[in-house]
Amino acid sequence: MTRTRTAAKLSTLLVSIGLLSALVAGCGADTSADISGGFQDRGRQLFNAKCGTCHVMEQAASQGVQGPNLDTAFAAAREAGMDEDTIKGIVRYQIEHPRPSVQGYPGISMPADIVTGNDLQDVAAYVARYAGVPGVKPPVAPGEGQGAQIYADQGCGSCHTFAAAQSAGVLGPDLDEVLPGMSRAKVEEAIVDPNATKAKGYENAVMPDRYSSLPPQELEQLIDFLVGPGSSGNGG
Ligand code: HEC
Ligand code: HEC
Repeated sequence: MTRTRTAAKLSTLLVSIGLLSALVAGCGADTSADISGGFQDRGRQLFNAKCGTCHVMEQAASQGVQGPNLDTAFAAAREAGMDEDTIKGIVRYQIEHPRPSVQGYPGISMPADIVTGNDLQDVAAYVARYAGVPGVKPPVAPGEGQGAQIYADQGCGSCHTFAAAQSAGVLGPDLDEVLPGMSRAKVEEAIVDPNATKAKGYENAVMPDRYSSLPPQELEQLIDFLVGPGSSGNGG
């Protein structure tokens, strides 16, 4: 009996040591297959789906303002020589143990453990690579024409799934599902005056209303990208 228990204790200890070294290794090691910052970068996709709704970050073209701008948050540290691994550790720690909201973000707290495991590694690696890097830009957009770039640069993809743009946001409706049923005029209205009609099932969700300031030509190019050039759209 005693021997079994000792053996059990020993193996528990070994497991903890194993876990610990895995954790330590995880802190430094780059586990991410792709931190190219491209549209296939899993860390970037996860960031846009889970973090970009609350945080601005230039490389992600994300637009959320409930939390601090992550470029601003890390620019000074980076300039002072903080390396990517250290930043990655800070981001991981913040995701696992979010600080309660500070002044400036009253009433909004960052939820804990929005991503875990490999997803956590990928998001942290992505943020550590790009947040606050001077001159960083979102990747050149996939998809046809200038409208694709406008879609990417305006951060539409941080909230919407749209296959042609390889975006996977989930805060707003899936554009592959809803656009085929919308007229060109309805699409335009949804962009420049999002509060005029709320998409079904998203009555309480917020689409930013600042796109009314898009120059008319850009708005046209964006809608061309969404519903096809010159098309009047389907569904009346
Ligand atoms: C519901 C909104 C919300 C979501 C979603 C969210 N955050 Fe936050 N985040 C906040 C708020 C609010 C703060 C400020 C809290 C504080 O620092 O006291 C914050 C702070 C941070 C900070 C610290 C910034 C600094 O100034 O030191 C980092 C890093 C961060 N978030 C990364 C992420 C990442 C990565 C994700 C996605 C996995 C994420 N956040 C998702 C709201 C959010
Ligand atoms: C911060 C998140 C967010 C961003 C960024 C965003 N949207 Fe939305 N969008 C939403 C939400 C939420 C809705 C549903 C509520 C509503 O209809 O206003 C929506 C609705 C829409 C609809 C109407 C869908 C329907 O079924 O009626 C279209 C079209 C659309 N968005 C396109 C865009 C385009 C194009 C951009 C970029 C210029 C964009 N959105 C940026 C969140 C966002």
